[in-house]
Amino acid sequence: MAESLRVGIAGLGTVGASVVRVLTEKAAELTRQCGRTITVTAVSARNRDKDRGVDLSTVSWFENPVDLARSNEIDVFIELIGGDEGPARDSVRAALEAGRHVVTANKALLAKHGVALAEIAEKKGVLLNYEAAVAGGIPVIKTMREAMAGNSVNRVFGILNGTCNYILTRMEAEGLSFEACLKDAQRLGYAEADPTFDIEGNDTAHKLAILTSLAFGHKIAADDIYLEGISNITQADIRAAAELGYRIKLLGVAQRTESGIEQRVHPTMVPTASVIAQVHGVTNAVAIETDILGELLLSGPGAGGNATASAVVGDIADIAKSRPGFQHGPVFGRPAKELKPYKKAQMRSHAGGYFIRLTVHDRVGVFASVAKRMADNDISLESIVQHAVGPEAVDKKTVILVTHETTEAAVRKAVEAITKDGHLTDKAQVIRIERAG
Ligand code: HSE
Repeated sequence: MAESLRVGIAGLGTVGASVVRVLTEKAAELTRQCGRTITVTAVSARNRDKDRGVDLSTVSWFENPVDLARSNEIDVFIELIGGDEGPARDSVRAALEAGRHVVTANKALLAKHGVALAEIAEKKGVLLNYEAAVAGGIPVIKTMREAMAGNSVNRVFGILNGTCNYILTRMEAEGLSFEACLKDAQRLGYAEADPTFDIEGNDTAHKLAILTSLAFGHKIAADDIYLEGISNITQADIRAAAELGYRIKLLGVAQRTESGIEQRVHPTMVPTASVIAQVHGVTNAVAIETDILGELLLSGPGAGGNATASAVVGDIADIAKSRPGFQHGPVFGRPAKELKPYKKAQMRSHAGGYFIRLTVHDRVGVFASVAKRMADNDISLESIVQHAVGPEAVDKKTVILVTHETTEAAVRKAVEAITKDGHLTDKAQVIRIERAG
């Protein structure tokens, strides 16, 4: 049997402890699958005395993750520290430079420095595996990088943040407030250390940026993503969506268009009958549309210790199985040096349907004026509904418009004109509608 694969883990939070536990409990099975044993030989974490429920009595401890990354005691460096700079970046770079394989769950790091790190990995002939960085336990990286060779992707979209999906699901099912649901998501360990990253869409954007590169062979362009989070979504939106046959999901979407690649993260109306609308709670889903395969939808647990550990252990096992000269190919599917420059499609040219919820003064002519502004901007309406806001607001009405396909630029101009007309009592709510099967 080949020599044991020696693993060093930096970061022993929920995920790190789960990885140690899975490697220990599943040692015999992993040995059978990989043809060699996998041994955790060294770790680096802030608090040495904390009880993590796993036996670390025989491993070496390193104060500094960079020292662990360079240590001769390991073959693989597992980065579970988090953050796109500082110890996470320094230690991953040091490990690759030292010729160690790397497994990371760090989407922020890859979104910012992934291409540069991939170049080092490819130069050094080592693996940089990151399955856990996108959609938790769903094996989407392997699917896109390995199983879909030869396919040309037209669109990839998905529910990539468990916290947001958990919040939206509970708001819809139980009529709860956004804040109450967020608190529970934090308590259950789904949310990032700073939950703003979840709810404002940054976490989804990091994951989308990685998928976009894999899908279209471009350099990662996380800063070129149109971003809107879910903190403005109200019960009024959720109820109106349900009435119209839609459900609201925070989607990350990357799409090939005539003018470039569109990357956007925003709350999205998807038809209630679509498959992606059935993805509830912390579950993630990724839909990939290609020329050969058609549409593929992967769904599964997107956050939490076990889901993430499952992906990390899968990556470690791939390294254990790999032999020099028999590896899974370039980090982002194409050699890092050959990734094309990213060509951004402007958000203003995005084409699609829109849901627009207006709260207006209840006076003569408002409805007609709103409809006229839509017509002025060549926006064709699929439906227009007027509701009472509630018994406490007799002088206000809600007007809900659903458009046929139009452009972002037209909708922005129409909403700006309606706002200037002075009919609105509150800011207009605009939610894009996504085609989904
Ligand atoms: N905070 C992330 C989520 C964890 O809620 O999906 C997994 O990246």
